[in-house]
Amino acid sequence: MKKADLLMIPGPTPLPEPVREVMGRPAIGHRSAEFKEVLKRVFPKLQWIFGSKNQVFLYTASGTGAMEASMSNTLNPGDRVLALVNGVFSHRWAEIAKTLGLQVETLDVPHGEAHTPAMLQEYLEARKETDYKAVLLNHSETYTGVLSPIRQLVSVIRQTHPQTLIILDAITSLGATEFSLDEWDIDVAVSGSQKGFMLPPGLSFLALSERAWQAHQHCQQPGYYFNFTRYQKAQLENTTPYTPATPQILGLDVALTLMQEEGLEAIIRRHQTLSRMTRAGVKAMGLEPFVREDALASPSVTSFLPPAGISVDAVRSGLKKRFGIVIADGQKELKGKIMRIGHLGHVSEREVLTTLSALEAVLTELGHAVPTGAGVAAAIEASQNTHTQTPAQKAVSHA
Ligand SMILES: Cc1ncc(COP(=O)(O)O)c(C=O)c1O
Repeated sequence: MKKADLLMIPGPTPLPEPVREVMGRPAIGHRSAEFKEVLKRVFPKLQWIFGSKNQVFLYTASGTGAMEASMSNTLNPGDRVLALVNGVFSHRWAEIAKTLGLQVETLDVPHGEAHTPAMLQEYLEARKETDYKAVLLNHSETYTGVLSPIRQLVSVIRQTHPQTLIILDAITSLGATEFSLDEWDIDVAVSGSQKGFMLPPGLSFLALSERAWQAHQHCQQPGYYFNFTRYQKAQLENTTPYTPATPQILGLDVALTLMQEEGLEAIIRRHQTLSRMTRAGVKAMGLEPFVREDALASPSVTSFLPPAGISVDAVRSGLKKRFGIVIADGQKELKGKIMRIGHLGHVSEREVLTTLSALEAVLTELGHAVPTGAGVAAAIEASQNTHTQTPAQKAVSHA
């Protein structure tokens, strides 16, 4: 019997059974009292995960939609913005900004690295007089697997540019690492459903500060579909301005409850553990992590180079054909150069250990000698015996 593939990519992630179950129910009307009740439960749970007392907007669009909304609603054509770029997704900020007619400046660091607070401080000190309307940042750069030190970068920005909007892509960091919009003094943060939220693609979320809301009041072309004002008004009445992806929102209600049951600290610990395990596992198999510094390793995705003489395609197709395990290729310039194992959302030690042992088998078959069990042994050692299971997995194993 063919089993479902195990998705070990940095989104879409595996889906918990209760989420799949609720999404497969008969359709309900998006203006029904029943659906309003769902939204009424969902909105405060979104505030909880973003660490914000303010409204969080819920868009039926992928993460990029919320990225565009964050700037189209707060900035005006001609405004100057600074984008911190360390990969394809952080570069997307610059691309969207250009499309919106903003003046874009980028501060680039090599792929696989993160901007350091010292480097940003030096850059901004020299540009104290520059009127940046926004700084655009990425928390977890899925292209490489780098986690940037956002909290420190924000405090550096606030020293020289206290009123500049700080806009963050938290698409593969939210629900995987520490984050709080209010405490960290961030103005807009966006995320997407197919990541730490354990849902299929199709929804994105946008949290904002009072400063961002004020900027919206002076925005000349906030657009139509993503317009903050329309979402604010509709959401206050527990509805949405346009027809939303109802099954995904029913799933979101359940997924956020599962996350609350697990607790934020436990979720963060689980992702840290899985990242440590994966990194230790690939290293022990003689593979080189693309992100050299352990301290910069993303909790959601680990990237590494294939062994000399073995192609990324051969490894990925061996994993898929023999074990039904899907890992990601690199993208764009890194296509065929790195592989990426996602460990985000509804995943635990079980999936990581399975993937590492399957990887060992495939590498051995392809001629890369791996001491038997080396990856798994290193991963178990790195787990420090913190047993990670998501609440949905616990519920199934106790049933
Ligand atoms: C960090 C990051 N930013 C932005 C995006 C784009 O999101 P979407 O594909 O949902 O539009 C992704 C998608 O993988 C991502 O990982």
